[in-house]
Amino acid sequence: MTHVRAVIPDDFELPVEAFDIPLCYQGDLSGVVIPEGLVRDRVRRLAKDINAEIGNKPIALLCVLKGSYKFFTALVEELTNARSACTEPMTVDFIRVKSYEDQSSTGQIQIMGLSNLDELKGKSVLVVDDISDTGRTLAKLLTTLKETGVEKTWTALLLSKRVKRFVDVPEDFVAFEIPDKFIVGYGLDYNQKFRDLGHICVMSPSGIEKYKTH
Ligand code: IMP
Ligand code: MG
Repeated sequence: MTHVRAVIPDDFELPVEAFDIPLCYQGDLSGVVIPEGLVRDRVRRLAKDINAEIGNKPIALLCVLKGSYKFFTALVEELTNARSACTEPMTVDFIRVKSYEDQSSTGQIQIMGLSNLDELKGKSVLVVDDISDTGRTLAKLLTTLKETGVEKTWTALLLSKRVKRFVDVPEDFVAFEIPDKFIVGYGLDYNQKFRDLGHICVMSPSGIEKYKTH
């Protein structure tokens, strides 16, 4: 089955002034790339595609914190609807992975909450992550899952950046393909800020300066 990604063109940005942006983030953003409502619409269809492909088998959903917390919640809700005729249950697990500082990948990937992984032994796991950029985080996580004895993995990504990967990783279910821009919102952060912002946005130069750590 072919899965059609929603492709966001390079120059696509909506004016921030046309959206409801929390006061604390006003001036920090230069454009809305994907409004929150569109994410929900797309996740509904993605859940149907996932269910059509995986079918009626027990499945463990693994949420890669922190970035995918919003996507994960939306996906679990939509999958619950899509799986209403399934006889096999779906379970949820959580793990934390950290690699970014300021706007770039540090290349050093920390996986936390590893003890949870034992519960995934012998299971079919859908790894739910926010974004694939260099591909290093997801690659490391997939290797770790294999070493733990997970039987089968699929990946579900909210975003796939149009950049050359350092490492090739399977991207089985992708909601949106986006241009090579640093984005925040809908769970994605810049030094831990903006995760609570509903829309997926590009930052303004002053916003980047304001929350820089180095
Ligand atoms: P990768 O290892 O380079 O593929 O990076 C993956 C991780 O880096 C993601 O799970 C995010 O947490 C973070 N990341 C990559 N690109 C962005 C971005 O544009 N905004 C915010 N976080 C990002
Ligand atoms: Mg992440």
